[in-house]
Amino acid sequence: VSGKQHVEFHRKVLMRQHLLRHWRPPLNTAAYVPFIGDADLAAYLYGDLWVYGADLDPDRIEAAGRALPNIAAAGAGALRVADCDSWPFADLQPPKFSVADFDAYAEPYAAFRSFWGHAPKHDRLVLFFTDGQRQSMMRVGKWTAPDGTRLEAETEQARPIFNAYLSQYIWPWFEHFIAPWRVVDRFRYLRGWMVYWGAVVELG
Ligand SMILES: C[S@@+](CC[C@H](N)C(=O)[O-])C[C@H]1O[C@@H](n2cnc3c(N)ncnc32)[C@H](O)[C@@H]1O
Repeated sequence: VSGKQHVEFHRKVLMRQHLLRHWRPPLNTAAYVPFIGDADLAAYLYGDLWVYGADLDPDRIEAAGRALPNIAAAGAGALRVADCDSWPFADLQPPKFSVADFDAYAEPYAAFRSFWGHAPKHDRLVLFFTDGQRQSMMRVGKWTAPDGTRLEAETEQARPIFNAYLSQYIWPWFEHFIAPWRVVDRFRYLRGWMVYWGAVVELG
């Protein structure tokens, strides 16, 4: 593990293992890994699934290719340089996704909305998010809502949102957005102002 792309890699892994312990993605399904970086998480956790990964940085994609020896089996183009705010695999026909892992630096929801709108999905899947919006909220008074709206507010006005960020702001939006899918399990932890969370969701 290179370390430089992660603060506390082991906590990211533990959260993922916690949800993956309760529900194991079936073999022959796919894992979507935008912001794949050096593929540390993907190589550690999703090696037995078909990994579809992308990153803006070509050096990261090269490193990810070395970390994921089985990536060729997912088909040509399953690992590519792309902006993940849009769905990067519109030209391919991947199998159904049972995992999507949005380990962004700060804003995972544009990529999530694109994935949700375009990707073939298994009827149960697990989703992970790295969300840094509370940092920008407090540091510069600007942030992006999960629906993509850019917002601005003085620190004092933003504080109620900051304080109840996941429970009253992100999760209600998320549940509404994925309906008729529903959340069957979830987990989260905070590190300073960063928010890390995941959910198992199911259709029906
Ligand atoms: C926190 S690192 C991800 C580390 C990765 N989860 C791993 O296991 O190695 C974030 C990555 O997102 C990439 N990135 C940032 N914005 C992006 C975008 N819009 N589309 C695709 N990749 C992006 C960066 O190049 C960086 O490699």
